Amino acid sequence: MAKLKILITAEEIAAKVAELGARITADFAGESVVLVGVLKGAAIFLADLARQIQLDVSFDFIALSSYGNARQHSGEIKLIKDVDRSMEGHNVILVEDILDTGLSLSYIKNLLQAHRPRNLKIAALLDKTARRSEPVQADYVGFVIPDEFVVGYGLDFAERYRNLADVCVLEPDSHEA
Ligand code: IMP
Ligand code: MG
Repeated sequence: MAKLKILITAEEIAAKVAELGARITADFAGESVVLVGVLKGAAIFLADLARQIQLDVSFDFIALSSYGNARQHSGEIKLIKDVDRSMEGHNVILVEDILDTGLSLSYIKNLLQAHRPRNLKIAALLDKTARRSEPVQADYVGFVIPDEFVVGYGLDFAERYRNLADVCVLEPDSHEA
């Protein structure tokens, strides 16, 4: 059985997401924004964040695959799904569940810059600053967390636990074969 330890409660997440939504609303007052979610981990964060932004908001999604096992990726990233619509001239906010090494986000950032958005910002619910290897930072960060493997609120381990309401640490001994 997996051992889960609550790191951030659903209530704490809700309060933080409301705060980020209010900041985005103020920063882009009078303008429209496109939220670009990174599937699948960011889906729940995007859904909640979008409802805390009092602006003209639209959604788009991209999907990546990274090679390696469930906990560690090899650094090799492949785009599986690009955005559906043109980002040119739009205020784009890239929405990601967690910023870890930064490899995924720096790859996506370069990719989206090529679409020539008017503005490109990054919102990450979680930031594992200790593991950063790429010089990438989020403009809107929910929580800086320690270097532990977390699941819930969209984040998975081998596709499981995305539906947990809290962000939990998955204790390593419990599931490693
Ligand atoms: P990065 O490219 O190393 O920054 O990794 C970002 C991606 O790795 C995230 O979008 C997640 O899919 C995954 N990831 C990194 N840390 C965790 C974690 O603690 N739990 C679940 N997924 C994680
Ligand atoms: Mg992800």
